[in-house]
Amino acid sequence: MDRFRIQGGTPLRGTVRTSGAKNAALPCLAASLLTDEPVILRNLPSVRDIRTTCGLLKSLGVEIAEDEQSWAWPSTSARQLKIHAAKISTVEVPWEQVRTMRASTLILGPLVARCGEARVSLPGGCAIGARPIDLHIKGLEKLGAEITTEHGMVIARSKRLRGGRIYFDRITVTGTEDLLMAATLAEGETILDNAAREPEVEDLANLLIKMGAKITGAGTSTIRVEGVERLRGAEHTIIPDRIEAGTFLAAAGITGGDITVEDCQPDHLTAVIEKFRAAGMTITAPTATSLRASLPGFGAGPLRAADMTTAEHPGFPTDMQAQYMALATQAEGISVVTENIFENRFMHAPELVRMGADIRVDGNRAVVRGRTPLSGAGITASDLRASASLVMAGLAAQGETILERVYHIDRGYERIEEKLNSLGARITREPSE
Ligand code: EPU
Repeated sequence: MDRFRIQGGTPLRGTVRTSGAKNAALPCLAASLLTDEPVILRNLPSVRDIRTTCGLLKSLGVEIAEDEQSWAWPSTSARQLKIHAAKISTVEVPWEQVRTMRASTLILGPLVARCGEARVSLPGGCAIGARPIDLHIKGLEKLGAEITTEHGMVIARSKRLRGGRIYFDRITVTGTEDLLMAATLAEGETILDNAAREPEVEDLANLLIKMGAKITGAGTSTIRVEGVERLRGAEHTIIPDRIEAGTFLAAAGITGGDITVEDCQPDHLTAVIEKFRAAGMTITAPTATSLRASLPGFGAGPLRAADMTTAEHPGFPTDMQAQYMALATQAEGISVVTENIFENRFMHAPELVRMGADIRVDGNRAVVRGRTPLSGAGITASDLRASASLVMAGLAAQGETILERVYHIDRGYERIEEKLNSLGARITREPSE
């Protein structure tokens, strides 16, 4: 297990590139199960969740060809995999796979649609909340699947799924993606109502359309799918990771630096940009695919407190809440941070307090009083985005911070320490004792 040793206090300056979006790449990998022809995916991020998903697909008999050259660091958009699910040798996804990555449930819809059966272990709760999959299950039942749960496994069976109208009680990103994939091969029309509007859902739909699926409305809350008999292979470039890009913007604000983030999609970050501006940052889009973030007065600040509430897209993403909270500790005044998506996503707060922040958590609200100087300390990461928040805090802190359990951050950020170091950060990775 690795840890980071972070020397804080340096304003970050320079240019950094965004990798492909983990949360778009995961459903696109799952979508390759829907066809017996090869699917080529480009701009994949080199992060652990992608490797875990490839392992899962291989365990189902899928062939994955890797062009090793294209995976060399530093990243290029050429990074690609050829995924060929010519034959699927088993429809069972065991606990070991689901335990390490909840997004494995994305396999449920494609497997039952393609093979008529799926046996996927039920995920347990995780650090940020209970995260049930009842909406995936109810949706598949609406499409005619017969579902039982035995020995902690969801077993879904259906000769051929048939279209239906699915209303999501609650907006769910992977739930929408799972059912969107299942509906592509169902007989007749499916309507997904109150669907997630995240850019990652739209990216998946774009891949599916290239594969021959008939989908309209992706990116809105009503998606219509006219099922087809079969899908074909396709080539697709994954969208940039808006959360990684947003994390770099936060790094500019918290260190009083000046960072240009390249290869990103500014219109996926509207709520984040607006909130950072409300907090006193200057953010411009020098080109259609880049953003520049700084504090006015050459880093003299100051940041201002601004309340923030997480919401489904196009609202402020829950995946940026922890990084925003780190920033809020350096803003003058009181910021109220409200988390509406997950019930337990403030695990970074006590660690930030250990570094000198003044944060009180009450249910789904955290009251952050700033500005409090941060000082380096030994801290522990609890989940992916909490880790990113703690790295932000370490960059702003006086002295040395040691962040344990950085395997969480490796799940979703590609070599974050190298990218930040290229901007002037001083982070070293070392094995934990
Ligand atoms: N929910 C249910 N029942 C369901 C599904 C979801 O009650 O069947 C609840 C969840 O417990 C949660 C809310 O609905 O309270 C929203 O959850 P959602 O299903 O949208 O989350 P997810 O699809 O499991 C994806 C991302 C998360 C991101 C959330 C919210 C992927 C692989 N994961 O998770 O990303 O936080 O959407 O935007 O796309 C991350 O990257 O760090 C991460 C956690």
